[in-house]
Amino acid sequence: MNMAVAKHEKWSSGFTFLLAAIGSAVGLGNIWRFPYVVGENGGGAFVLLYIGMVILFGIPVVMTELLIGRRYQMSPVNSLAHIGQDKPARRLWNALGWSYVLVPIGILSFYGVVAGWTLNYVVKMGSGALTGVDATTVENTFNGMMSDPVVMIFWQTVAMLITMGIVARGVKGGLEKAVEILMPALFIILLVLVAYALYAGDTSKAMDFLFVPDFSKLTGRSVLEAAGQAFFSLSLGSGAIMTYGAYLTKDISIPKMSCGVAFADTLVALLAGLAIFPIVFAHGLDPQAGPGLVFVTLPVVFDGMPFGQLFGILFFLLITFAAVTSTISLLEPMVSYLEERVPHMRLKMTFLAGAVTWAVGVLAALSLNVMSDVKPLGFIQRFADKGVFDLLDYFSANVFMLLNGLMIAFFAGWVMKRTALLEELGLEDSGLFKFWRLLIKVVVPIGVGLIFINFVTEGWLMDSLEGLFNGAMAG
Ligand code: PFF
Repeated sequence: MNMAVAKHEKWSSGFTFLLAAIGSAVGLGNIWRFPYVVGENGGGAFVLLYIGMVILFGIPVVMTELLIGRRYQMSPVNSLAHIGQDKPARRLWNALGWSYVLVPIGILSFYGVVAGWTLNYVVKMGSGALTGVDATTVENTFNGMMSDPVVMIFWQTVAMLITMGIVARGVKGGLEKAVEILMPALFIILLVLVAYALYAGDTSKAMDFLFVPDFSKLTGRSVLEAAGQAFFSLSLGSGAIMTYGAYLTKDISIPKMSCGVAFADTLVALLAGLAIFPIVFAHGLDPQAGPGLVFVTLPVVFDGMPFGQLFGILFFLLITFAAVTSTISLLEPMVSYLEERVPHMRLKMTFLAGAVTWAVGVLAALSLNVMSDVKPLGFIQRFADKGVFDLLDYFSANVFMLLNGLMIAFFAGWVMKRTALLEELGLEDSGLFKFWRLLIKVVVPIGVGLIFINFVTEGWLMDSLEGLFNGAMAG
């Protein structure tokens, strides 16, 4: 393998890195998914569980990915190949590096489709198509979009072109410029929306729902949902954080940055809840509306409120900004690898990676309408009802993401040298370091491993444990 790979640009400062990493973490996962998952899992107790997962699994793995990226300052493929070259199971670490650039492509292919929906909704809101209409019309509008392949692919293409346009310009000229504009805008819009929701909505009900825990609402599934959501929301196991770490200069503290990213990401998820639930409750609507919460419930609500159209536009702009600062981080790992293969060809390589992702995304979009009866893994019973979109979601955003996170923790904990870890983290060999190392050596591999096994066996593990527990209680 050629180790003399091209040098990558570096972030201008720790602050721009932080904006970019928070930009990657804050996305559809925070504003679209988190509120409805909280809704489905009963509110406050789930929020606490989620925060626990962020602390126990999230922050340690963010630290691990950043330190591995920065150690060799290359794409995940070459960083892992480099660190693993003289270690046992070298091939496994090579494969892990590849997984770290392929998984984000898998995620981006369907994430780009959803980013397209949000773009489409900015325009729909702006044009008044969702103003002065009844709930059925709003629902029909959403279903209409879902069943129209041309509209869906058009907007997915726009989302991918924006992503490619930013990534092609490089770290300083593209990624940094984008996050320097989009992230402050995102925070301002979010605060405006929270203020509006608290003023015009049912604040006390929303506060109760989000922050007063009722642990009886938690089930075994909630634990899995919380862990999966934490991984997805922090962009772990999917190359973005590791690649962004590779562009980090050596003077920046990785532990501090990791806590900053996790804190901001969680804060945004909670603020998104505070922007949404007060108005959902004020209208007596269902917080458990699932994926339609943002695209169906909210437009109905906005329509009945003063300045609803304006705030509706702002809301969908917010999600779009959040999505774009994530899509660029999903394309970057592959582009950084291709740049190492073919130096000085960033524009072409971005186009290549983007075009392949776009093409897979088209299949994902079509699987929601005209290709809805194509089930690529239909011959396996448990995948019999999953189309391309669902399979990409299942494998990239669940199976491989968790697997990557588990393996990277194992790799840093058991394979990498302690001195290298200490040096990269800039910590003393004391309590904090020992605690982190214990987490990635034991707690993360076992915890994520159990979650993973339970996930792929569709709850078998959890059911057995619950059976045992109930048996013991009865005995
Ligand atoms: N963290 C993003 C979100 O919450 O929407 C999704 C994501 C971005 C996942 C980048 C993985 C990734 F590499």
